[in-house]
Amino acid sequence: MLAGKHILLIIGGGIAAFKSLDLIRRLRERGATVTPVLTRAGEEFVTPLSVSALAGQRLYRDLFDLGDEAEMGHIQLSRVADLVVVAPATADLMAKMAGGLANDLASTLLLATDTPVMIAPAMNVRMWEHAATQRNLATLRGDGITVVGPNDGDMACGEFGPGRMSEPLEIVAAIEARLNDGPLNGRRILVTSGPTHEPIDPVRYIANRSSGAQGTAIASALAALGADVVFVTGPADVPPPSGVQVVRVETALQMQEAVNAALPVDAGVFAAAVADWRVTSASDRKLKKSKDGLPMLEFAENPDILKSVSQMTQGRPKLVVGFAAETNDVIENATAKRLRKGCDWIVANDVSPATGIMGGGENAVTLISDDGAEDWPRMGKDQVAKQLAARIAEALK
Ligand code: CTP
Repeated sequence: MLAGKHILLIIGGGIAAFKSLDLIRRLRERGATVTPVLTRAGEEFVTPLSVSALAGQRLYRDLFDLGDEAEMGHIQLSRVADLVVVAPATADLMAKMAGGLANDLASTLLLATDTPVMIAPAMNVRMWEHAATQRNLATLRGDGITVVGPNDGDMACGEFGPGRMSEPLEIVAAIEARLNDGPLNGRRILVTSGPTHEPIDPVRYIANRSSGAQGTAIASALAALGADVVFVTGPADVPPPSGVQVVRVETALQMQEAVNAALPVDAGVFAAAVADWRVTSASDRKLKKSKDGLPMLEFAENPDILKSVSQMTQGRPKLVVGFAAETNDVIENATAKRLRKGCDWIVANDVSPATGIMGGGENAVTLISDDGAEDWPRMGKDQVAKQLAARIAEALK
């Protein structure tokens, strides 16, 4: 898959640097050439010898090495690659990149390069969540940099949360997707998927029957065409696709926050079955049966995520695609929904139990746009996804 591709791998100074050794192996297994650059801080975690031995290449370490400058200037080094990958991308490296600093070899290469850049952040959860890092992240995304991960999990520092570097195979999948020459190469697309869970108390929640299968298939089909996909998913039955950035959420409010954080994007596909209501006073203790009668739940309306993105006055995605899950008067309801929400396209389907669509493997949809309603024959959800991805690629040309 990566035969003939040249990756410039910048290894930053974090405990996750040990995973970059495996990343080098995985990339070479797939036919890529890996030129490694190790930052000074990176040398605290992995040895120059192990990096260059695994890469089978010389290692670049220091900006002011006259020998290197004569042999291959750092600007050229950054440009011969098909992709520059920073793994682990520490908070410090991200800040340097966002600020345009160039005070060592890694940051100079990153400022001088005209090839696409991908980062796999890794840091302590508080550092990741800090407003400064989140600001830098938004800047880097805005600059067109692809971000892989980080994942949630136990961290070397003993804390738990987002900040763990993605696994080498996840980074490889993202690299393959990024270097794909498909029609959506360089496009960033958001996909929401799955149901949301709205808590009643710590053990109970309100949900719906969405399996996440259609949204997952769409994300996968878009990535296969080369898109950089941000996949915001509620608790779905099916595993998320590989080669996409996965953001897991539970509630509609969390989904809205994740969607806002993912912007700007070229297109948004809103396949999630978002709960329309949430329980306003979810109890922090388990509700108990009582002689005083049944519990009363009060509801508030959840924000309409599709509508808020469709109606953005600044930075609206070029294409916004909504879904309409209906049980009756499908076309009429979906046509009205498209106008009410302000999205460009609506993918309408009949989710009456008799159709077996919700939770099943097939879908029969109607694509509603300015051009009218187009019925697609009943087919596998994977096929619907491929057809929709191809139409999105057409629209973003
Ligand atoms: N949607 C959303 N945020 C919500 C509700 C829905 O983003 N709070 C999106 C869904 O992802 C889908 C579209 O809006 O793309 C249609 O959702 P649907 O639930 O079918 O429509 P509703 O707005 O709930 O309208 P109605 O209650 O009339 O069915």
